[in-house]
Amino acid sequence: MVVEETLVMIKPDGVARGLESEIVRRIEAAGLEIVRKQRKRLTRDEAERLYEPHRGKEFFDRLIQFTISGDVVLMLVRGKNAVARVRALIGPTDPAKAPKGTIRGDYGTTVTQNVIHAADSPESAKRELSLFF
Ligand code: RTP
Ligand code: MG
Repeated sequence: MVVEETLVMIKPDGVARGLESEIVRRIEAAGLEIVRKQRKRLTRDEAERLYEPHRGKEFFDRLIQFTISGDVVLMLVRGKNAVARVRALIGPTDPAKAPKGTIRGDYGTTVTQNVIHAADSPESAKRELSLFF
């Protein structure tokens, strides 16, 4: 097992609904460490860089608009197999398809308003962490 670092971001819907402490609790209960955490409102440029791999897709503008609509909470999360384990905690992209017990399954409302982002591979994690930490 490899110790990895990953980027997690509570999206504006999650912050506005007061879900930060519950999400932090779930990450820590899984044995993962939150090494750094910051709350801020992303600029359009930061959001576009984070989601750069999706540029040109039908949902890109909607995604960026939503991501900059309010404060987010960015976290550097560390632990064994952290990338895959955080992805398992958050669940699939569409809350309607996410099992209960996952963060999106329990709290997500739409594909856009799905509460939380996490890097999907160690390579993405490295790139995304370099943008904010
Ligand atoms: P994320 O990057 O936010 O952790 O989400 P993900 O890996 O589960 O999903 P991804 O395919 O990377 O998509 C990034 C975010 O774009 C929004 N999205 N909207 N058809 C749509 O309207 C659509 N598809 C994707 C979602 O908010 C998704 O989390
Ligand atoms: Mg993604």
